[in-house]
Amino acid sequence: MRGLFVTGTGTEVGKTVVAAAIAHTARARGDRVAVFKPAVSGLDDYPLRPEVWESAPELPDHALLRLAAGSRQGDEQVAPYRYGPPVSPHLAAELAGERIDPDALRGAALAATEDADLLICEGVGGFLVPLTAGYLVRDLAMDLALPLVVVASPGLGTINHTLLTVEAARTAGLDVAAVALTPWPTEPSPMESSNRETIARLGSVPVETLPHLDLSDPASWPALRIRLDPPRAASSLRAA
Ligand SMILES: Nc1ncnc2c1ncn2[C@@H]1O[C@H](COP(=O)(O)OP(=O)(O)O)[C@@H](O)[C@H]1O
Ligand SMILES: [Mg+2]
Repeated sequence: MRGLFVTGTGTEVGKTVVAAAIAHTARARGDRVAVFKPAVSGLDDYPLRPEVWESAPELPDHALLRLAAGSRQGDEQVAPYRYGPPVSPHLAAELAGERIDPDALRGAALAATEDADLLICEGVGGFLVPLTAGYLVRDLAMDLALPLVVVASPGLGTINHTLLTVEAARTAGLDVAAVALTPWPTEPSPMESSNRETIARLGSVPVETLPHLDLSDPASWPALRIRLDPPRAASSLRAA
C-alpha cells in the first residue's frame, strides 16, 4: 500500500486540511487518490443535509477529503464509522450501541486502495486516541504500515506536542515522513520560525508548512508535496 497516514498533536489542529491538501496535490499530478478516515464523530455539528455537503465551504472530514482527492468513494468507503456526538470514536460507538471492529477498518482501508495509486488516511484526534477500548489510532497506523505526517500548530506549545508525537510514532516503529505546520502565517513571527527550525533539528524530520487555504475552492490551493519514502532519521528521538 502506498500512501500516508496523517495524524496530529490533537484534535482541531488541521489534520483534515493537511490530508486534503496532500490528496489534492497528488491528484493534480495525475495520481488516483483514495482517502480513508476510520471514524468520524461530531456529525451533529454539521446542520447541512448530506446532499448539499459538496457545495458547502464547511464539510465534514470525509466529504472534504473526498472532494480534495477527486474520489468517487461513497461515505461508507471513506469513513466506515460515522457518529453524531463530538466525542472520541470509542465512546461515540458505545453511545450508538456498537463497537468499532479493527478487522473491518483494515479491510475497508485495503478495499479503498483497489482502484487507487495512493491512500491518504486521516487519523482521529491525536496519535493515542482509542478507536476501541484497546485499539488506538497508533495501532491502525501500524497495521496499515504507512509513513506518518504529524500535523501541528505553528505557535506556542507546539515543540513539545510535536516531538512527543514524533517520538511515540518512532517508538511504534513507524517512519515520520514530515511534520506539517498549519495554518502557516504569511509573515511568521520569530517564535513561529524558531519552532519550525527547532522541530526539524530536534526531531530530525522535514517540516513543511501550509498557508491558510480557502476551503471552498480546492483549485486555489498551493501544492503540498510530502516524500513517501523519507530517509530514515538517525536521531536520539528514534527508538533504538
Ligand atoms: N491551512 C489552513 N487553511 C484554512 N483553515 C485551516 C488551515 N489549517 C487549519 N485550519 C482550520 O483549523 C480548524 C481545524 O482544522 P481540521 O483540519 O478540521 O482539524 P483536525 O482534522 O485536526 O480536527 C478548521 O476550522 C480549519 O478550517
Ligand atoms: Mg479532521
